[in-house]
Amino acid sequence: MKRIAPLTLACLWALTPTAHAGAPLDAGRLLAATCANCHGTDGHSAGGTESLAGIPGDTLLRKLAAFTSGEKPATIMHQIAKGYTPEQLALIAAYFAAQRPATGGIR
Ligand code: HEC
Repeated sequence: MKRIAPLTLACLWALTPTAHAGAPLDAGRLLAATCANCHGTDGHSAGGTESLAGIPGDTLLRKLAAFTSGEKPATIMHQIAKGYTPEQLALIAAYFAAQRPATGGIR
């Protein structure tokens, strides 16, 4: 997997914080690649976990924040969610929100 310098990421985020600009979505795609192991390619789950594709960004962020705070019980997501900064979670959420919705996805 390609690595992206934290400074580059910070610049992209600072310059274009909108969900529809190209650069943040590219950064989000790189970050979201980790999620594919369990949630499927581009958030289209093959089963066993929820699909993330097409979920509104604020919904995803709310769910991730619930994992980070421990409000929502989890086997693994509380640890995964804590591994990202709020800015990185926002990039990831924007990326999945921009994907074609999967059938059976969460709402
Ligand atoms: C090692 C496997 C694994 C990885 C990697 C993973 N997840 Fe998860 N995800 C899970 C499991 C399992 C659950 C169910 C909650 C739990 O037990 O932790 C879950 C639940 C979720 C949920 C809640 C779905 C719902 O509505 O109940 C969201 C949102 C989510 N993951 C987002 C992500 C994002 C974003 C990433 C990448 C940063 C990610 N996950 C990476 C396994 C994973």
